[in-house]
Amino acid sequence: MGIKNIVVIGAGAMGNGIAQTAAVAGYQVTMTDIVPEAIEQGKASIAKSVEKLASKGIIDQTQKDAALNIPTSLNMAPVRGADLVIEAATENQELKLELFAELDRFAPREAILASNTSSISITKIGAITDRPDKVIGMHFFNPVPLMPLLEVVRGLATSDRTRDVVFDAGRVMGKEPVEVKDSPGFISNRILCPMINEAIFALQEGIGTREAIDTVMKLGMNHPMGPLTLTDLIGLDVVLSVLEVLHRDLGEDKYRPAPLLRKMVDAGYLGRKTGRGFYEYGE
Ligand code: 3HC
Repeated sequence: MGIKNIVVIGAGAMGNGIAQTAAVAGYQVTMTDIVPEAIEQGKASIAKSVEKLASKGIIDQTQKDAALNIPTSLNMAPVRGADLVIEAATENQELKLELFAELDRFAPREAILASNTSSISITKIGAITDRPDKVIGMHFFNPVPLMPLLEVVRGLATSDRTRDVVFDAGRVMGKEPVEVKDSPGFISNRILCPMINEAIFALQEGIGTREAIDTVMKLGMNHPMGPLTLTDLIGLDVVLSVLEVLHRDLGEDKYRPAPLLRKMVDAGYLGRKTGRGFYEYGE
């Protein structure tokens, strides 16, 4: 089955990035969200991003127009015409399970249902549907238009055919797909989030300032951004939720989230998206 029509659920940082990337690649894309402001913010992010990419000659006018004209919806109706649904809603297991049960009712029988989850079990998501063979993880990276990796996560029941179709779609979107087994945090967050957590423990223990910790990792390890700056980009709530899944499902204390991270999430300091995380951001 060739993919023509993609519906992206969620217009946040990941959802709008995925919708933009799919539209630029030539797919018919619809972006949905239940919150009207989220759609508006998502469209504004896309406009800013494609302006930048077009000014650098990375995309042409046709691709820019396709991204600027992505249809949006506040309900599930567009899912009825989807070949591929990519879910990028809030990282909450209960919410995702409910959502997939609903997507399973709305989407055509042949449609593939993918989740951009950072850590929730694809096997569990698949089991809530009547098509676990067509449920798969498509884990993109922030900022989606720039990051070349696509982690393709196979649940226990995901078919070879579903994997092949998603690999092809990922490549058309300009991504390098890597197949990963369904395990907490997959490969990326199993390795990244404990490193970030350790950076937060170091800050909490006063081993260095936020700038010192980020500078050490940037200049000493050649990371493009320090772990605290990166956490602000990803979202402190997202990192906390990944660590909670690793801690709970792998059962090892080494994944225990730093108390400072929990406290900052409680305070609403979620990173760039709220204007404050480990650093402060203006408008
Ligand atoms: N669209 C288009 N252009 C963008 C953009 C976007 N979304 N975001 C940034 N840019 C542009 C900037 O405007 C800038 O353009 P300019 O040079 O013309 O001013 C250019 O990219 C470079 O940006 P910056 O100067 O701000 O900074 P960098 O050179 O450091 O590049 C970066 C930015 C590509 C984000 C780089 O810092 C990076 O690779 N950081 C690490 C990101 C990362 O690790 N992401 C993975 C997070 S984990 C994840 O997503 C998984 C989840 O499950 C947790």
